[in-house]
Amino acid sequence: MHEKLQELQAHRDAFMKEADNVTDIDQLEAVRVKYLGRKGLIASLFKLIAELPPEVKGVFGKELNRLKNDATEKVESIEAGFKKSNGESGFDPTLPARRPFHGSYHPLTLMEREVRRVFQKMGFTVARGPEVEDIWHNFDALNTPDWHPSRDASDTLYLEDRDGWLLRTETSPIQIRTMQAQQPPIRIVGPGRVFRNDKPDATHSAMFTQVEGLYVDKGVTFADLKGTVLAFYRHIFGSSVKTRFRPHFFPFTEPSAEVDVSCAFCGGKGCRVCKQSGWIEMGGSGMVDPNVFRTVGIDPEVYTGWAFGLGIERLALLLYDVDDIRLFYENDERFLAQFGGRR
Ligand code: DAH
Repeated sequence: MHEKLQELQAHRDAFMKEADNVTDIDQLEAVRVKYLGRKGLIASLFKLIAELPPEVKGVFGKELNRLKNDATEKVESIEAGFKKSNGESGFDPTLPARRPFHGSYHPLTLMEREVRRVFQKMGFTVARGPEVEDIWHNFDALNTPDWHPSRDASDTLYLEDRDGWLLRTETSPIQIRTMQAQQPPIRIVGPGRVFRNDKPDATHSAMFTQVEGLYVDKGVTFADLKGTVLAFYRHIFGSSVKTRFRPHFFPFTEPSAEVDVSCAFCGGKGCRVCKQSGWIEMGGSGMVDPNVFRTVGIDPEVYTGWAFGLGIERLALLLYDVDDIRLFYENDERFLAQFGGRR
């Protein structure tokens, strides 16, 4: 090998050794200047090429270029290593932290929780039931007469492949299941999805959410129902709302009433929300029918009780000022993100 090439190899070895031995950025800089600086060793070797004999010029030039590239790369990588261990990797610790992406609770979840929370404070526990129900729990046990239109397939979604089964049309079968499973005193709220053969529009959906309430004990009266329902709506809408019980019919309660709440948005004077009536219809209620008690084996001579049912979407539409129920089911993140509610 030509002696100049041997020298070059020796420079390479020396550089590598020196570079490997640096312990800080200043030492590294000194090595860099020595080899790669404008007046450094490699620059001076480039000048030497012209004087070399023609047969080594080519190889020497190639080898020298290789050394220059390798040395540059090595210095850079050692420098990056120092910066990283100094916390100088281009990371700016004064920048605000990136927040981890958080989902948000669905408005119906928030609403249901709020309802549950209020009743739990009043001593109610939460009960659940299946969304696929049998006809007996959904209708028969609830004292629904055979001729009642709600049993019709035009209203109720029956399961085609399983005779006698349907998607529950209301949360009321939760009452039946609870009373079958436990003796009074009973105080439960039963939230859940219900299903009806309805065409969706701004105020209807084939699936929606109800909360059932049931209170059974000795001496429970309609006055308890009125007091509890009023307390609930005052928690929800504010302490100045009033309630109004309008006589109605439900198969499983007698007497039955529909519950109206005075409009919290205009104070009852009449506005867009209450359609100028001053009242908003919220749900059904009544005293548990003795037939229902007998069906589940509770003695109506000993116990009385009341029940109610209300719609979660209805509350959410009002409280969150949403004008189309379908928004709750489309899962458009631009809609959902507005409710935040991180617990
Ligand atoms: N289940 C009724 C409905 O979906 C609502 C209802 C009314 C529930 C009266 C009750 C009640 O518990 O007592 O229309």
